[in-house]
Amino acid sequence: MARIGILTGGGDCPGLNAVIRAVVRKGAGHHGDAIVGFRNGWRGVLEGSVVELTAENTRGLLHRGGTILGTSRTNPFSVEGGLDLVKETLRSYRIAGLVVVGGEGTLSCAAKMAAEGVNVVGVPKTIDNDIAATDFTFGFDTAVQVATDAIDRLHSTAESHNRVMLLEVMGRHAGWIGLYAGLAGGADVILIPEHPFDIEEVCHHLRHRHASGHVFSIVVVSEGAEPAKGSLQVPAHERDIFGRPKLGGISYLVADEIERRTGSEARVTILGHVQRGGSPTAADRVLATRYGVAAVDLASEGRWGRMVALRGGEIVDVPIDEAVASLKVVPAHLYEVAEVFFG
Ligand code: F6P
Repeated sequence: MARIGILTGGGDCPGLNAVIRAVVRKGAGHHGDAIVGFRNGWRGVLEGSVVELTAENTRGLLHRGGTILGTSRTNPFSVEGGLDLVKETLRSYRIAGLVVVGGEGTLSCAAKMAAEGVNVVGVPKTIDNDIAATDFTFGFDTAVQVATDAIDRLHSTAESHNRVMLLEVMGRHAGWIGLYAGLAGGADVILIPEHPFDIEEVCHHLRHRHASGHVFSIVVVSEGAEPAKGSLQVPAHERDIFGRPKLGGISYLVADEIERRTGSEARVTILGHVQRGGSPTAADRVLATRYGVAAVDLASEGRWGRMVALRGGEIVDVPIDEAVASLKVVPAHLYEVAEVFFG
């Protein structure tokens, strides 16, 4: 029996509550562990902000979006004395180790903590699906479903008005949401960061489609999509309080160019945080639950410094530093599948 901490960090995503529930049910119910939640990601560990989690206070969570623990992008390594504060909090609450549920930023921090002797187990979450070492992160399926529903809805209004409809989706520097939603929704062009676009080629696809009798088009644009060097001029992004570029808005530039070059009327929809909100899909609930059970098993066995991952349908565990060593981006062969349907 051990006292195991859990935190959720970074941007929220559907399925976080399902992980928390699973960690409590397996950890407390089967291993006899005490599960201690830290509020607002690493910030809660720095501040010693805790809540004892029990089967009772984690009931009814499976279908709920967001995270009952709250989240933040706080990085203890950017705070003076942060590492010592983390160690002190864990010591004073007698925490054997932490289950860290997060994306790239939160897990990189967990990997650094592991190297500094802090006991951690990682769980990969993010709608962006950009964590190496795992086939899928939970939250991604829900975001893709929301974006696909949006494309389905845009179809009818695009057709009624003979318009080019652009749907901008999240994903930062990875085009997974754009690619999957675009494939599922039958997009006529998909722009992702991994494949810098030539605006004239985009317009060529649209002209070709419209010449062959179609009166409307759907273009899916990942927020991190970039024009090929020397083509369009994109204004520099503002930075958020953590110094990260604030993405979003590239579609307006693309829409203007489409109107100017093709004469077709274009409209932009930026889906934004709707992709991250609300209830997780069944697939995300199952994946998050499997991750939660596997993570607390590792913690109970004292197998620290690992991250749970999905590989070929099976849950495995991998060294946490390997898991965050690189970003998982869309491979060229998958984009080629999407290109079959362009124009
Ligand atoms: O990493 C998840 C994500 O939703 C990205 O797709 C997006 O670029 C970013 O977070 C938005 O961050 P924030 O919620 O801080 O605006």
